[in-house]
Amino acid sequence: MTTIDTDPDTGLEPLEFAVTRNLAAKSTADRDAILASPGFGQSFTDHMVDICWSVRGGWHRPRVSPYGPISLDPAAAVLHYGQEIFEGIKAYRHADGSVHTFRPDQNGRRLQRSARRLALPELPVPYFLQSLRELIAVDGAWVPSGDDQSLYLRPFMFAKEAFLGVRPAHKVAYYLIASPAGAYFKGGVKPVSIWLSEDYSRAGKGGTGAAKTGGNYAASLLPQSEAYENECDQVVFLDQDRNVEELGGMNVVFVYKDGTIVTPQSDSILEGITRDSLLQLARDRGHHVEGRNVSLTEWREGVASGDIVEVFACGTAAVVTPIGTLKGRDFIDEQPSGTLAFELREELTNIQYGRAEDKHGWLYRLDA
Ligand code: PLP
Ligand code: COI
Repeated sequence: MTTIDTDPDTGLEPLEFAVTRNLAAKSTADRDAILASPGFGQSFTDHMVDICWSVRGGWHRPRVSPYGPISLDPAAAVLHYGQEIFEGIKAYRHADGSVHTFRPDQNGRRLQRSARRLALPELPVPYFLQSLRELIAVDGAWVPSGDDQSLYLRPFMFAKEAFLGVRPAHKVAYYLIASPAGAYFKGGVKPVSIWLSEDYSRAGKGGTGAAKTGGNYAASLLPQSEAYENECDQVVFLDQDRNVEELGGMNVVFVYKDGTIVTPQSDSILEGITRDSLLQLARDRGHHVEGRNVSLTEWREGVASGDIVEVFACGTAAVVTPIGTLKGRDFIDEQPSGTLAFELREELTNIQYGRAEDKHGWLYRLDA
């Protein structure tokens, strides 16, 4: 167990995790072979964390156990009504061997916002942070040290109560698993092509668009298949007023020729932590930043007139990816290429990997 003091903000005592080591943990040679070329989301570390919640007992039975299948009652509510949320966050190995993550308080708070929307219990942020540290305490060797590599951490929570009535579950599980990660897109950082989804929405007004919940991703799969059929890498969604929302798993950012940076903001869009951080770095460089509606017309006309000089997507998994093409049913708009996306990506990853000063206090050490 790692020792952490009582949380000064919440007064919460740290949890006491029961740790069961995986006796069938991968050998160093097998782990090194995976870390040499991890891909994304394909391999998992030797352990996982879970914490139970019930109406009566609150958060209880925190554990670190061998990674493996979860046993669920076939009537578990998540399997029927999709009451589930998740997060995505990375652990980075610095040159001195230490392991850090990036703005985990933000992920912890977003998990709480997602929980509120999905009528799930809110995991206190100190418990969330402790879960990350507990997993790194046993699986720290899984944090790779190669260029652009990281350990992708996937916290998630779901309704496990066996009950077919439609109401918030009385029994819930929080889990944390981890997966070594290289580049999200095969072929590294190169401009992606985007398919405009005209027939399908990802979210609706008052819906769950701002929550990180499985249903939003399920809703994005058919349009994503349409994107592949149209030889595009990713799909972009519009809202009911034909404003740009986001991609299936990334936010969108527009750079204007006067240096203004604009990003769609509404209650149907996930508030990305990568985006927030990049926009802060852009403000630090003197850019004016706006979060507001951006209509499809503004995007297309802005590119045509030269007002928009760069468009990029961003998120934890893929970091920053320039958008090279926007393709719709009856048009293909080549997107202007600029350098800001690459510069901000470099600046952000330099902080994350400990190569540049962390002026905003964004790093959080996980292994000490
Ligand atoms: N939008 C969606 C739908 C996402 O899945 C993600 C990825 O987590 C993002 C945006 C970017 O969020 P973040 O930068 O916090 O990873
Ligand atoms: C992330 O960037 O962390 C995401 O969650 C995107 C995708 C892998 C779902």
